Amino acid sequence: MAALGVLLGLSIWWMMSAPGRFPTTPLTDPVRKILRSPMFRHPGVTKLGPHHYRVAVVAHQFQFEPSKIVVPVNARIDFYVTSADVIHGFEIPGTDVNIEVIPGYVAHVFATYHKPHDYLVVCDQYCGIGHQNMIGAFDVVAKMPLPSVQVVPSGPATPAMLAQAGQALYASRCAACHQANGQGLPGAFPPLAKSVPEYESDPRHRTLLADVLLYGLKGKVKAEGKSYNGVMPAWGDQLSNTQIAAILDYIGTAWGNKEAEPAGYKPYDAAAVASARKQTMTSAAVGQLRAKLFAGHTQKH
Ligand code: CUA
Repeated sequence: MAALGVLLGLSIWWMMSAPGRFPTTPLTDPVRKILRSPMFRHPGVTKLGPHHYRVAVVAHQFQFEPSKIVVPVNARIDFYVTSADVIHGFEIPGTDVNIEVIPGYVAHVFATYHKPHDYLVVCDQYCGIGHQNMIGAFDVVAKMPLPSVQVVPSGPATPAMLAQAGQALYASRCAACHQANGQGLPGAFPPLAKSVPEYESDPRHRTLLADVLLYGLKGKVKAEGKSYNGVMPAWGDQLSNTQIAAILDYIGTAWGNKEAEPAGYKPYDAAAVASARKQTMTSAAVGQLRAKLFAGHTQKH
């Protein structure tokens, strides 16, 4: 009996003391450290030599970043994959690449492909409500395309540049869940079409939108008459204030939202996001604040 008790105690201690073994939503310190490292701050494909490429991927609920990977044939491809939140899988069906991606750890495998082919990347670990939407592309090509246009504006950006960046960032970070048309997926991901202008109708909600992007959102929400109980990931560590402002402006004006905005609607700027960033919040606190602010108008929320 005593031996059993000790064994039980040990196994509980083992489970509790290993960060990452049990998925939790808040970023743990090692995760933060990994995401801030040079390799993962800008995930993607990096040429290391004439026939050597590095592919850095961050898996999060519910997409891979980058969502599309392009590498050439006959080169050594080193994959480094980490998770920003819970345990995911990184599997390229039809190849030997199949890794478990654990938050706080960086998984590393390498491979060489001899024929051009378009593969899929799938997550084979159940990671939450949007798990089945975690699909990326992995294209092996005969010849690498020219470097694509960098979507991170540096220095003073023109409104046109910001609009372009906002659209591109939305496509790469948000559209997998909220969909390209902003309609979301009923029951899984709330729509942004129509619901964003409702946020903006009250100055307090405006800051809240920046909070949602910076810190994520956890808890029950209602949008356009439907209930949702998923987890919105935090983007504060991965996106700059300018990039977040660009996304906020995009979702505030796309899909007819612009016409529904209250009179005197002004675009977001990096300064507004910077001030929201000063007060650190948890995703659960953002959810509570949203519930509190929306308690007044129960028509749609
Ligand atoms: Cu990520 Cu399933």
